[in-house]
Amino acid sequence: MIVLGIETSCDETSVAIVKKKNRFLLGDVLSENTLSQVKKHKKFGGVVPELASREHSNTIDYLVKKTLKESGLSLSEIDAFAATLGPGLLGGLIVGSNYAKTLALTTKKPFIAVNHLQGHILVTRMKRKIKFPFLCLLVSGGHTQMLLVRKYNDFKLIGETLDDAIGEAFDKVAKLMGYSYPGGPIIEKLALKAKKRVDFNLPEPLINSKNFNFSFSGIKTATRKIIGNSFDKKLKCELAKNFQDCVTNCLITKCSKAIDLYKKKERINSFVLAGGVASNKFIREKFINLCAKKSLQFIVPEQDLCVDNATMIAWAAIERLQINKKGDILDFEPKPRWALEKL
Ligand code: KG4
Ligand code: ZN
Repeated sequence: MIVLGIETSCDETSVAIVKKKNRFLLGDVLSENTLSQVKKHKKFGGVVPELASREHSNTIDYLVKKTLKESGLSLSEIDAFAATLGPGLLGGLIVGSNYAKTLALTTKKPFIAVNHLQGHILVTRMKRKIKFPFLCLLVSGGHTQMLLVRKYNDFKLIGETLDDAIGEAFDKVAKLMGYSYPGGPIIEKLALKAKKRVDFNLPEPLINSKNFNFSFSGIKTATRKIIGNSFDKKLKCELAKNFQDCVTNCLITKCSKAIDLYKKKERINSFVLAGGVASNKFIREKFINLCAKKSLQFIVPEQDLCVDNATMIAWAAIERLQINKKGDILDFEPKPRWALEKL
């Protein structure tokens, strides 16, 4: 089975062709091309939706043709066409989904509507067998969710952020320090350069609460106050480190409790870390240690599969086609909000 996937939900236009290997449900990427719009949005300090959809629309045709050419396949050799239908920015979702629908219509092959978050999570199963159910922490620019994944399309939300997503907190703190979007990789680099431990007294909201929810806006606000109060710029690496430590501690504390509960309750034996923030090496390291302590298999995708990409969209479609061969209707409308529990 060979699927062409399109991802246009935010500021990356990405197209990938993924093939399922025969005997096992594992996949190979035949070709992938991603065009980042980061530079175009830089001067605005964040992603501008109108600009994003225009860029997707300008580049999608070129990217699909290039990806097909590099795969060595013709259009008729593709078995299904998939696109992100949500959650995300409406303009971009329309561009990508219309393109995939048109390809499906003209080739008379199935069209598959993929949930972006489902793609982030399932792509961890592309290169290795991970048995359901497993526990997953999804950490991206728009989401921070803890989920019990029972099947490819059965997700139970067990905790989430009550305010900012963790990636958003990284981005906002970097912006307060004068850096551009995306701030996550910048904070990670600054933190690595910290020479000494300085305690800025940042809060760790909800860390002792009994549920599995998170809150990151308080940490961001506290950072704003520190920077606003005659902040010694020489300490910016130490502040970045302090911030990264605090948010990581919140994640680890809650996940540790959830692992204890769900190991007993649902017999999970794997923990998956997914989403753009999962490319942070410091956070990955902390989760490796946590899972080793809890005797749980830890899985995180390679860094380029953590951030937005079309491979994850093609792969999620392959997982679904294994169970249900029928495509989605071409009237399937993009959903800027689309919870994993409502697949
Ligand atoms: O999953 P993703 O590519 O897009 C969304 O679906 O949101 O995640 C993007 C987010 C941004 O907030 C970015 O700052 C963050 O992931 N991010 C990181 C790192 N790399 C990307 N955050 C912390 N450390 C990183 N190395
Ligand atoms: Zn994403």
